[in-house]
Amino acid sequence: MRTVQAIILAAGEGTRMKSELPKVLHPLCGRPMIAYALDLAASAGVKQPVVVLGHGADAVKPRLPKEVKVVIQTKQLGTGDAVISAKRALSGAAGDVMILYADTPLLRRTTVQRFIEAHFKAGATCTLLTAHLADPTGYGRIVRNETGQITGILEENEATVAQRAIREINVGPLICKAPALTAALAAVTPTGPKKELYLTHIISHIAQQEGAKIQAAKVEEISEALGINSRTELSRAIGVIRQRIVDAHLHNGVTIEDPHSTFIDHGVTIGADSVIRPYTVIETGVSIGKRCSVGPFARLRGGVALADDVRVGNFVELVRTKVGARTRMHHMTYLGDAIVEEDVNIGAGTITANYDGKDKHQTHIGKGAFIGSDTVLIAPVKVGAGAVTGAGSVVPKAHDVPAKGVVAGVPARPLNHRPSEKPAEPSAAKVNGHKKTAKAPRKKTARPAVRKALRLKRRPAAKAKPRVKAKARVRVKARPKQKAKRR
Ligand code: UD1
Ligand code: CA
Repeated sequence: MRTVQAIILAAGEGTRMKSELPKVLHPLCGRPMIAYALDLAASAGVKQPVVVLGHGADAVKPRLPKEVKVVIQTKQLGTGDAVISAKRALSGAAGDVMILYADTPLLRRTTVQRFIEAHFKAGATCTLLTAHLADPTGYGRIVRNETGQITGILEENEATVAQRAIREINVGPLICKAPALTAALAAVTPTGPKKELYLTHIISHIAQQEGAKIQAAKVEEISEALGINSRTELSRAIGVIRQRIVDAHLHNGVTIEDPHSTFIDHGVTIGADSVIRPYTVIETGVSIGKRCSVGPFARLRGGVALADDVRVGNFVELVRTKVGARTRMHHMTYLGDAIVEEDVNIGAGTITANYDGKDKHQTHIGKGAFIGSDTVLIAPVKVGAGAVTGAGSVVPKAHDVPAKGVVAGVPARPLNHRPSEKPAEPSAAKVNGHKKTAKAPRKKTARPAVRKALRLKRRPAAKAKPRVKAKARVRVKARPKQKAKRR
């Protein structure tokens, strides 16, 4: 592919957006609109595109990469005027110049690359990008003569009723030999009530030049032609990009159960055989390993990295959190600024209180830890490998739980055994300073005589419900050793 210089037009006010935010900063799937045009220029081998800014330039400029050359169009006097402003920043008056509009983010790289190739292959003076739309309203119409040669572009406001019926429209990008562009721009005159210089008017001037060749390349897909002028078009464009992102993940071996209710931003990696369940939002910068399950109703925000075989269930929100292999958090959890190692179980309702109103703090959960339901971890705090927090624990900041330690309560204090182990015989009525809570009386069951009278049958032993070992229960007093009464 031959190299070209590129100008990106992004100075317009975007009045129809009715927004305080400059139009080109409106995000589409995690990236501002202008990033798409910059990406197209880069994919065409342009190292230093010239970006024309005007309305909201102060807000847009800091969002641009360092290598772009910024030119300010002081008054937004039309796309032709914007190109005139940009021309002084181009290096040299020779070569070919590609002009891209910052508000057509759906163009594909392959389309733009084909477009440039077509220009050089034909040795054209100027190559346009066009599309045939069922409803061409709002776009510039491509005017051709009887032999099919392009003779000009007419904007909606200057076309006759018959010309408005033309369905071939100007998508926006054009590539032109620099001297022809300069000469044609000099010939363009102000149009309309706002006295604007329309870039599209250069076409009729070039067409009149002896030996000039104007040709059109077509977009691959109609959706690529969409220009964003309003919120309606913005939401339509987001829908198209969203579907493209989903398609790319499906292609890579990811199951997405319902693409219509799955929102994955640009810049997300997902390993093969992972399953993304409905109503899930995955934002830019997230990486998900292989064989993970995410959702339904999960939200993974920036800075989240899941290793392989991680389970993230419903109503789980993660941000700036690394999760180790095989760790699972099935329900209603918020983890922010956390490192969770492998094989951890995060119980329902676990929360990292990572923000103290001023700063954000880290939580570290070691390998194999068991975080009981409804645990609040007040950061900064560490839970050691293999440690356990009891249900409802509030672990205060800096009160790190040691490896294999067991804590419970509010605030959480250490217990001296793991719930899976037989508790040590306690000697006092107090454990770790906590008063023993009264034990619920055993449920009385009908005695045999009563059973008989009531004609109740004793449940066969095999079917009797096994007594569930109460987790984390501390037996303070040993029950008197007597033969267990029949239940
Ligand atoms: C433009 C084209 C139209 C084409 C359509 C495709 C012209 C006159 N018309 O119309 O043929 O079908 O795009 O979407 O070019 N801009 C500046 N400075 C200005 C005015 C605009 O930089 O003074 C920038 C805008 O920020 C925008 C782009 O140029 O990124 C296009 O401007 P816009 O006003 O949206 O043109 P359309 O009316 O959509
Ligand atoms: Ca537009």
